[in-house]
Amino acid sequence: MGLGTIFVPQPIIVLNSKYGHHPNGRINNKRISLRMKKIIITGGAGFIGSHVVRRFVKNYPAYNIINLDKLTYAGNLANLKDIENEPNYKFIKGDIVDVDFINKLFADEQPDAVIHLAAESHVDRSITNPLQFVITNVTGTVNLLNTARHAWQGKYDKTRFYHVSTDEVYGSLGETGMFTEESGYDPHSPYSASKASSDHFVRAYFDTYGLGTVISNCSNNYGSYHFPEKLIPLAINNIKQNKPVPVYGKGENVRDWLWVEDHARAIDLIFHKAKAGSTYNIGGHNEWKNVDLIKLLCRIMDKKLNRPAGASERLITFVTDRAGHDLRYAIDATKLKNELGWVPSITFEEGLEKTVEWYLANEEWLNDVTSGHYQQYYDGQYNNR
Ligand code: NAD
Ligand code: DAU
Repeated sequence: MGLGTIFVPQPIIVLNSKYGHHPNGRINNKRISLRMKKIIITGGAGFIGSHVVRRFVKNYPAYNIINLDKLTYAGNLANLKDIENEPNYKFIKGDIVDVDFINKLFADEQPDAVIHLAAESHVDRSITNPLQFVITNVTGTVNLLNTARHAWQGKYDKTRFYHVSTDEVYGSLGETGMFTEESGYDPHSPYSASKASSDHFVRAYFDTYGLGTVISNCSNNYGSYHFPEKLIPLAINNIKQNKPVPVYGKGENVRDWLWVEDHARAIDLIFHKAKAGSTYNIGGHNEWKNVDLIKLLCRIMDKKLNRPAGASERLITFVTDRAGHDLRYAIDATKLKNELGWVPSITFEEGLEKTVEWYLANEEWLNDVTSGHYQQYYDGQYNNR
């Protein structure tokens, strides 16, 4: 090694090549050493995608990471300012629905893996415009699967298609119980129906063709770079501006919240360690009624903004409920813990405080994403609700 040469260890991924429950019976127990070189991460300019891209770019200097994103209203390259000049990172603007574009991308870049996060992700928007969710989440996913199926012919054991999905595919729980990987699919919103459909297609490509697929289903994420159409960042923005905080119905719906960086860490583990054809649930064991969560957020914001205790709570405003609103989600992530050793790294109170601090310190980011079209969206959703 000459002077000035940096030795970068090649990441070796050891995949158990056993084809899970593959019906074609292609079962063997050989372990395969796989040198991943190029990974396409779709939706990398969005909330969770940007955290996944950042983690992979920083932690795996020998991988080439391609961020493929259409930059819809939810995609924002400002989410990746800190890593945009890294030598192992490249951004490509494009649409996962576009057959010719995706075929050419695979031919040009010869990726070894896809981590697929691109999606329409907001339940309220899916109620207004369900067709867009079918186009992006179903057709877009099948288009990627199809291209991967042909491009990776003969090397399914050396390639990986990782599909990032949601707990909402399992439907809604009553007062008790949790979703496991064995829970039946029972989606209720156009968003969750489109994600359920995409999950079925991913499994179909494993079962039918043997494509090396993996799926994870995660609960509600929160953290930095979260677009303020979703509950937590919307409430932070409104509290900051002393505007009413809209809580749907009686605020009794329950969500299971996970810090986004813990989700990105779980994706990293599953990507590297899971068997082809497998599914993992990811969740923080952290259930909150919406109204209790917003009250906690108000207490944190009062402290951070030097407001008298109770000042922000007065902003809580109960508004007409979401149509078909799922009552409760709760994830059982025992499989991920037992098989891969993953547990959340921080408590909700710590994570929420960090998140509030991030939004208060990143006023420019928040102002940028809440200008222009956002105001129209907000008025349409919340005025006279
Ligand atoms: P997001 O809305 O913040 O980001 C989605 C990204 O996809 C954006 O950058 C957008 O520009 C891009 N995109 C949309 N349509 C595209 C297309 N046709 N071609 C290329 N790019 C396109 O979403 P998110 O909250 O980061 O969610 C990412 C993934 O994780 C989604 O698949 C979602 O279903 C899943 N998920 C989200 C959560 C959550 O709490 N946010 C929880 C579990 C699973
Ligand atoms: O469970 C995982 C899912 O979590 C992801 O798959 C979705 O992409 C993500 O958007 C999220 O879906 P939710 O519908 O649970 O998230 P949202 O932040 O929109 O709403 C959280 C809860 O808060 C839900 O019960 C609806 C309620 N809510 C939401 C908004 C935007 C309100 O009460 N007021 C609001 O203004």
